[in-house]
Amino acid sequence: MRPEELKTGGLGASAGELTAQSLEAPGQGSPEGRGMAKPAAAASEDTAAPGTGAARTLLPGAVIGMLGGGQLGRMMALAGSAMGYRFVALDPAPDAPCGQVTPQITAAYDDRDAARELARRADVITYEFENVDADVAALLTAESYVPQGSALLYTTQHRLREKAAVEAAGVPVAPYRKVGSLAELTAAAAELGLPCVLKTATGGYDGKGQAVIRQPEELEAAFRQVAPGASAGGALPELVLEKFVPFKCEISVVAARSASGEVKSFPAAENIHVNNILHLSIVPARVPEEIQRRACELAERIVSGMNAVGLLAVEMFVTESGELFVNELAPRPHNSGHYTMDACVTSQFEQHVRAICNLPLGDTSLLTPVVMVNVLGQHLDGAIQAVCAPDEAGNRLGVAPKLHIYGKAESKTGRKMGHINLLCKDTGDGLSWVEQTNLWRN
Ligand SMILES: Nc1ncnc2c1ncn2[C@@H]1O[C@H](COP(=O)(O)OP(=O)(O)O)[C@@H](O)[C@H]1O
Ligand SMILES: [Mg+2]
Repeated sequence: MRPEELKTGGLGASAGELTAQSLEAPGQGSPEGRGMAKPAAAASEDTAAPGTGAARTLLPGAVIGMLGGGQLGRMMALAGSAMGYRFVALDPAPDAPCGQVTPQITAAYDDRDAARELARRADVITYEFENVDADVAALLTAESYVPQGSALLYTTQHRLREKAAVEAAGVPVAPYRKVGSLAELTAAAAELGLPCVLKTATGGYDGKGQAVIRQPEELEAAFRQVAPGASAGGALPELVLEKFVPFKCEISVVAARSASGEVKSFPAAENIHVNNILHLSIVPARVPEEIQRRACELAERIVSGMNAVGLLAVEMFVTESGELFVNELAPRPHNSGHYTMDACVTSQFEQHVRAICNLPLGDTSLLTPVVMVNVLGQHLDGAIQAVCAPDEAGNRLGVAPKLHIYGKAESKTGRKMGHINLLCKDTGDGLSWVEQTNLWRN
C-alpha cells in the first residue's frame, strides 16, 4: 500500500479535514510504511518551500529520516514513535543513542550514497545538529522532502549571518564587529570598548572557540587562541568580536513554527552554566513575568521573521535593567528545552515532529515548576544511584526526579550523558534536591 496523498490548505486545517481530502499517492514511498493499516505521508505541493504555506502534512505512519543519531535524535524518535511515526537515523557511530531506538544507517555524514538511502527510506527529513554538510543538505533537499529547508542551517551555522538575521527580525543583539585579522581586532576592540568576547564565526559550542578579553594586552593572545591557523600563516579566520554583556542571568526560549506558519513558544528557561556547559535550567525563570513574556515574543518574532520550520532555540542575556539581548540560535531541540519532556503539556521533541509534519502545534503550557539538571560523565553513576534508590531528599522536599539517560557508549568527564527533570512545587525545592544529593560539586 502506498502512502496516501492529502491536500492541505495550511493553517487551520484539522487532521479530520485532511483525511477527508485524500488524493492519489506521490512518488516517494516509504518501504517501512508498507503493510501498515494506514501509512499517511501526504503532500500538496512538490515544490513547497519552507515558509510558503504550501506545506505537506505527514500523518502518523510516515517515516521521519534523521540526520544525526545522538541524544536529541533519540528523544525526538521516542516522542514521535509514541505518536505512531517511524524513524530512520543516519549516524557514523554504530549503536548511536538514536540507533538504539530506531533503525540506523551507519555511515559518515558526508557519504552521499548513505544520504541518498536516507532520502529513499524517509518521507520527510530532519536533523538533530546544525553543522550539516552543505552538499548533503542540497542532495537531501533535491531527493526528499526537507521542510526546514537549508536557509535556516546556512544562517545559524555562522554567527555573523545569525546576528544579521536576528537584527533583521527587529530583535537586539550585543554590539559586535566582524574581525579577520589582529589589526581588525584591535580596531574593533577600541570601537566597542572592553571587555569583549572574541568568537569563531563557525563551529563553536559549549564555550569552545571563544575568549573573553578584559585588557588590551590580552588581544593578541586571544586572537592566537581563537584563530590558531592565522598566526601560522593560514587562511584569514572569520571571527566576531562582541561586547561583553554584564548579564543578570541567561534565559532561553524554544519556539516552533510549523510548515504552514503556526508559531508557538515554550516558557522561558533560566540557564546556569558551569565550565561553559549547561548545568541547570530553572522554569519558571526567576525574572519578572513581563520579561518572560517579552522573551517569548522575541523568540516568536525571530522564528516568524526567518520563516523557520521546526524548532528554534533562542539564547538571551537579561541585564540588570531588564533589557534582553539575543546571544545565539540553534535550529533544533535544545538542552535548555529538555524540561518540557516532563513539565509541559507537549515536549519540545513532539513539537518539532508536529512542526515538520505540519500538524497543529501542541499546547506549550507549563504543568509544574521544574529544574533540569544535566548529568555529565562525572555525575552518571551517582545520578543513577540517587534516582534508582529510595529518594529521601525527594520525599522530604516534595520533588519528583525524572531520569533521562541517553545510552552513549562511553562516559567521559564533561560529556552529556543524560539529565534529570526535577518536578517540584517551587523551583527552590528542586535546587535544594540538587544541593542535597551532593553530586554536582564538580
Ligand atoms: N557577549 C557576551 N557577553 C557575556 N557573556 C557571554 C557573551 N557571549 C558568550 N558569553 C558566555 O559564554 C557562553 C557561551 O557562549 P555562546 O555564544 O552561547 O557559545 P556556545 O556556542 O559555546 O554556547 C554564554 O552562555 C555566556 O555565558
Ligand atoms: Mg550557547
